Amino acid sequence: MMLPETDQTLGDAGSPTDAEVRHEAGAYYKRPMTIVRGQGATVWDDAGRAYIDCVGGIAVANVGHANPRVVAAISAQAGTIMSCPELFHNDVRARYVTRLAAVLPPAMDRIFLTNSGTEAIETAIKAARLATGRSGIVAAMRGFHGRTFGALSATWDPHYRQPFGPLVPGFRHVRFNDVAALEHAIDDTVAAIIIEPVQGEGGVHLADPEYLRTAARLCQQHGALLIFDEIQTGFGRTGRLWAHEHVGQDGAATVAPDLLCLAKGIAGGVPMGAVGFGPRVPSFPLGLHGSTFGGNPLACAAGLAVLDEIAAEDLVGRSAEMGARLRSGLEALLPDHPLIREVRGLGLLIGIELRERVQPYLERLTDLGVLALTAGSLVIRLVPPLVITAEQVDTVIAACAEALR
Ligand SMILES: Cc1ncc(COP(=O)(O)O)c(C=O)c1O
Repeated sequence: MMLPETDQTLGDAGSPTDAEVRHEAGAYYKRPMTIVRGQGATVWDDAGRAYIDCVGGIAVANVGHANPRVVAAISAQAGTIMSCPELFHNDVRARYVTRLAAVLPPAMDRIFLTNSGTEAIETAIKAARLATGRSGIVAAMRGFHGRTFGALSATWDPHYRQPFGPLVPGFRHVRFNDVAALEHAIDDTVAAIIIEPVQGEGGVHLADPEYLRTAARLCQQHGALLIFDEIQTGFGRTGRLWAHEHVGQDGAATVAPDLLCLAKGIAGGVPMGAVGFGPRVPSFPLGLHGSTFGGNPLACAAGLAVLDEIAAEDLVGRSAEMGARLRSGLEALLPDHPLIREVRGLGLLIGIELRERVQPYLERLTDLGVLALTAGSLVIRLVPPLVITAEQVDTVIAACAEALR
């Protein structure tokens, strides 16, 4: 077929809404709005209306939309070289893995680069099976790890899994934060335990420090590996660079994973993921795993800019500060907002659990100029860019007070 010249119009579809409905393969619930631009923690629709963006690209836009440092890095790299597969060394990739390794947990100094979160999970599962020669994976109820077959097998929600069976064998789900269930599930057939330190999609549930420490101890005892899925919680989202760093803040023992999965906020919106390999995980034998786009210089340049921006603007500290402000403002609504069951979260990953389904309230928030996410049917999830200002935080609190009245 001859390709016609690029047509900048929407053909006979009329509007972006009609065009997407007609030409996309379904799968997404879409809100009836067309977002065309972003800056910092604000996005605009095609009618020019501004919204405070507590969706943040689903916890991706940590450094803010149109971040100048990221824009400059991508522009410069696009004009230099974008495609350089891992068949060759590359200067930008070399700088990126060096830089990322320096901020990973101690002794985690090897990295496999991917293009998304689900691919990072696939990589970690394969690395764990290869390292241990075992197939068992213990995951948590309400956990979410992605939608490709390995990751989907670790994801809990039957709604996502059930139509696609048979899934990958060897996966078991145990109650989150249930130490006894974890002890019961682990044996010498288990390759890995996989945990989100804060369950994001599953409702914003924080792992107890003791639960994470127990998981680490059981993995050590049974020769299994501990995988932390910090795809949503990484890069400052929770007020620490990595969410598992909150463990041990009270002076008690810290915890470190053997495999650390990252994505979302890693590259300022450019698709990218990464898996950190700790000392108990051998490197992949040559040729056994790979990705055409993984480690491409464009994503690596964006990733470098993100790490620079997080350091230069202290976005981790900012996430802690703005997260505390947002959470305490929302908690103050509890006495005269009986609709709110609980406010919970860490840093700028915040869940507001309601006593009713959240959908109509999300629409009210949108009308008030605030975009928010769900996390299950009863929880409103707020994951704004970490650059959100105090004034914007206060506007979000006021909008929640109004919408949830
Ligand atoms: C904790 C967690 N793991 C994995 C994924 C999958 O990442 P991706 O959508 O980039 O494949 C997500 C996405 O929401 C996530 O929140």
